[in-house]
Amino acid sequence: MKTIESLGDLRGKRVLVRSDLNVPLDGTRITDDGRVRASVPTLKALLDAGARVLVVAHLGRPKGAPEEKYSLRPVVSRLSELLGTEVKFATDTVGESAQETVASLADGEIALLENIRFNAGETSKDEAERRAFAEQLAALADAYVSDGFGVVHRKQASVYDVAQLLPAAAGSLVRNEVESLRKVTDDPERPFVVILGGAKVADKLGVIENLLTKADRIIIGGGMAYTFLKAQGHEIGKSLLDAEQVDTVKGYMETAEKNGVELVLPVDTVVAAEFSADAESEVVPSTQIPADTEGLDIGPKTAELFASKIADAKTVFWNGPMGVFEFEKFAEGTRAVAEAVASCEGFTVIGGGDSAAAVRNLGFDESRYSHISTGGGASLELIEGKELPGIAILEEGTK
Ligand code: 3PG
Ligand code: MG
Repeated sequence: MKTIESLGDLRGKRVLVRSDLNVPLDGTRITDDGRVRASVPTLKALLDAGARVLVVAHLGRPKGAPEEKYSLRPVVSRLSELLGTEVKFATDTVGESAQETVASLADGEIALLENIRFNAGETSKDEAERRAFAEQLAALADAYVSDGFGVVHRKQASVYDVAQLLPAAAGSLVRNEVESLRKVTDDPERPFVVILGGAKVADKLGVIENLLTKADRIIIGGGMAYTFLKAQGHEIGKSLLDAEQVDTVKGYMETAEKNGVELVLPVDTVVAAEFSADAESEVVPSTQIPADTEGLDIGPKTAELFASKIADAKTVFWNGPMGVFEFEKFAEGTRAVAEAVASCEGFTVIGGGDSAAAVRNLGFDESRYSHISTGGGASLELIEGKELPGIAILEEGTK
């Protein structure tokens, strides 16, 4: 992938940057600014080079038209603070406001465009419609920098098509992410331990399948563990279950055994009769979850077991929380795994929005991990071994 430096002297050039500023919001308050912070180094480098920087990004999944609750405006002040310079804001994507805003930029100044998904062309499956929108975007700039790692698995106008229309390069965030994640999959130092959690088994099937031939140990916790326990024939009460995946999961357990991959499941579970922050809870063996309860966290024995399976790892990839960490009462399992990964001396990568947010919100020092990815789906797809459109287009080498 080409670097920003390869774009030549950028002084006075208009540079369109695709960042991923899709942050969780509580109203207009950013509850985890990890992605905004991660976008800063590339933007700073471009500003220092004297470029006129135009940032495009999305927030949530609007349906191709403006919707106030998906406005990127709440991100402007945080980005300004972090950059130490004013960030101008255009209230549309390629319309009058965007054009005027770009025209008003002096060398070393920066602007953010309103949510790029307010325009239907951005996510259109119709190549021509997407291309037409990408051409409008490209007309705003002289060069393109792809730095939104969280969206590189999306074949969208501001990620994919525009890279074919302008001299294009990868920003440092995208480069670092790809390098770190490939280090995990290409030739990991062993033992290679993978920890998977979170609610959706279906989303992670591809990763599990790919890792069954690569990992030494796969630790399964969080909401997805109950489908595994069910596949082993245990009662799981009202716990999360992906009934459609039970057979697939059974197949995985057989493959793991055949390949000599150690599959580690919870041995005890924190259960409650209701899903709430202050629900009364108890710890039960994972093989005996009472019928009228649901599992909301891994239990203390499991936390210890998982930690012992992480301690000697040379490579760790972790995606997905171990329980409902948003409720303090059910955050212990996730906290224990975060601590175990932080203490591990190997190369440790945290992939995914939720696990990254969990680590930060639980107060762990980010520097204790080798790499915290800004991508959820993108990091998983990379680990799965899929080709990501937004990376492929940069590696092909365009203009
Ligand atoms: C994310 O939150 O994972 C990225 O910003 C991508 O968002 P998307 O899943 O809506 O494309
Ligand atoms: Mg997502």
